[in-house]
Amino acid sequence: MSVIVNHPKTAIRGALLTFKKDPFFHPMAECFWYESDAIIVMENGKISVVGKADDILPTLGDISVKHYRDSLMMPGFIDSHVHYPQTQIIGAYGEQLIDWLNNYTFIAEQNFKDRAHADEVAEVFLREQRRNGVTASTIFCTVFPESVDAIFAEAEKYNMRIMAGKVCMDRYAPEALLDTPQKAYDESKALIEKWHKRGRAEYVITPRFAPTSTHEQLEMIGTLASEFPDTLIQSHVSENIKEIEWVKELFPKAKDYTDVYDQYGLLRDRAIYGHGVHLTEREFHILNERGSAVAHCPTSNFFLGSGAFNVHQAKSAHRPIKVGLATDLGAGTSFSILQTMNEAYKAAQLNGAPYSSLHTFYLATKGTAEALSLEDKIGALEVGMEADLVVLNLKSTPIIEYRMRYAQSLEETLFIQMTLGDDRAIAATYIAGKMVYEG
Ligand code: GUN
Ligand code: ZN
Repeated sequence: MSVIVNHPKTAIRGALLTFKKDPFFHPMAECFWYESDAIIVMENGKISVVGKADDILPTLGDISVKHYRDSLMMPGFIDSHVHYPQTQIIGAYGEQLIDWLNNYTFIAEQNFKDRAHADEVAEVFLREQRRNGVTASTIFCTVFPESVDAIFAEAEKYNMRIMAGKVCMDRYAPEALLDTPQKAYDESKALIEKWHKRGRAEYVITPRFAPTSTHEQLEMIGTLASEFPDTLIQSHVSENIKEIEWVKELFPKAKDYTDVYDQYGLLRDRAIYGHGVHLTEREFHILNERGSAVAHCPTSNFFLGSGAFNVHQAKSAHRPIKVGLATDLGAGTSFSILQTMNEAYKAAQLNGAPYSSLHTFYLATKGTAEALSLEDKIGALEVGMEADLVVLNLKSTPIIEYRMRYAQSLEETLFIQMTLGDDRAIAATYIAGKMVYEG
């Protein structure tokens, strides 16, 4: 079944920012389009007109135009790695990755066998995303197919572009959360047949991470991936030092962590791996060769003491990796992509390799769309693109309003927003041409 939602024409007016090219590789002047007074017309879920207000106003006839002042219209934010079942454990104190998984995550995820519980969390989770201007995301569910049905069904109500999958794991987790190689294959396949490409939904084949899958399970997941070459794949890689040592013990024949996934055919275009904080040169090379992406999760990496991913290193021109920005909730501490950008800047500072606010806004929009190979659909404001937008209020708090009086450039304006802004900066969120949140 395909879901087509027709909305009437909607037109909005204000300042506009969108990206055309990757500023990590091209001169900044070629990379973005900023227009101080623009109009965007949305029709049938897509952008039908976008340009200077003066040019478009005379052509609009009797369409009413919503005017956003002191604001910035942008492509909706994309979260490339997030765990919706962890909504109830955000900010859980204690230890690093493995203990945190055992003490909180694996307990919370057991509740998702109950569809009513999954429905409730899916509703809260997507509501928070809308409140934060997140219009598309790549989501980990739990081992229970019910949890996958819940998030896809809730997203369908908003015609939201989401990608999600059932977590597969058959060892090193509580009995109640384990499947088997065959069950992982069968349940994932049934979910692909039910949800993949239904409306704006896409399925993501989701082995949790190498340690929680046996050789047999990874093999069956690899088979499934080869049978469905146009699904996405997601997992975790090289997040935490102890985790990497554990992977070495469990897979002694693998060259490194990334090689485990490669051996099972799980590196390809549209495969996205969370974290990659401690990747080696060899791993960067193979990710580049296979066309796979890394999801940069700075709030999570700081919260769990994992380290600071280096975007400049990942995007080295001789073997560039696609990089998406991500919250990785609930190890990540905020639904806000602005706050995620804030922490991304600090990660870059710790690496001695900072990048500008324009680079960061590129990462959160078009860059993440490219990491997911969705750049022909979302992540930019152009005619024909899906009409997923966020409108930022540039004066959302008293201190931001005060600080903005001294902003002298677009770059400084954006830097203020990503450093001081959060959900309060979201003036409106549009999904498929329809306003779904107003701040
Ligand atoms: N590695 C395996 N599972 C998880 C998870 O749920 N969160 C994080 N941050 N890392 C993981
Ligand atoms: Zn994760």
